[in-house]
Amino acid sequence: MVRARTIFHEFLKAPNKVGAVVPSSRYLATAMLDQLNWDTLKNVVEYGPGTGAISKYLLQRVGDHQNLFAVELNESFIPVLNDRLPELQVFNESVGDIRQICDRQGIDWVDGIISGLPWTAFPESLQEELLSATLRVLAKGGQFITFAYLHGLPLQNARRFRSRLKETFSKVTISPVVWRNIPPAIFYSCRK
Ligand SMILES: C[S@@+](CC[C@H](N)C(=O)[O-])C[C@H]1O[C@@H](n2cnc3c(N)ncnc32)[C@H](O)[C@@H]1O
Repeated sequence: MVRARTIFHEFLKAPNKVGAVVPSSRYLATAMLDQLNWDTLKNVVEYGPGTGAISKYLLQRVGDHQNLFAVELNESFIPVLNDRLPELQVFNESVGDIRQICDRQGIDWVDGIISGLPWTAFPESLQEELLSATLRVLAKGGQFITFAYLHGLPLQNARRFRSRLKETFSKVTISPVVWRNIPPAIFYSCRK
């Protein structure tokens, strides 16, 4: 309940950055995580963990041979994450700086990215900036999974983002609607 209130409060302050009024459901989180090829993953990153709705399930899946970290721009979410999921390594930075974050950790390439970013709320310039930054760290054959709310799909920003994914990645699949999420959502599974 506190987590739901936190995300709602932050949404009211910055709707175009937070992009959600409630945390993702476990149905959406687990369906997205099922897409990752867990047998071969080495470096996994979560974009925009918020209050940790997806991170919680990510932490349950990562093995000893895998490295997971998260990048969250909103500083209000950091104490919530540290308190709730102390084992999650989180950087209070923008995904736009993901290359520098990886360099600082000595990581050349990332093989799996789970994104919670509100791409539909972003203007074109920010979509481009964050997608380019992503491509600079994602290994060839690496996976990028990101969700979008069903009601937002007809919007221009959402249609442009979908087109950019199809132009950018060698393979893009679109999931069935996850009705047991509020609001209902789909997700894109992309391979570089
Ligand atoms: C839609 S919420 C998703 C929260 C959580 N992953 C979930 O599914 O419930 C989007 C999150 O992305 C974060 N965010 C927005 N822009 C970001 C950026 N450039 N870099 C890192 N995080 C960002 C927001 O602060 C927010 O926590």
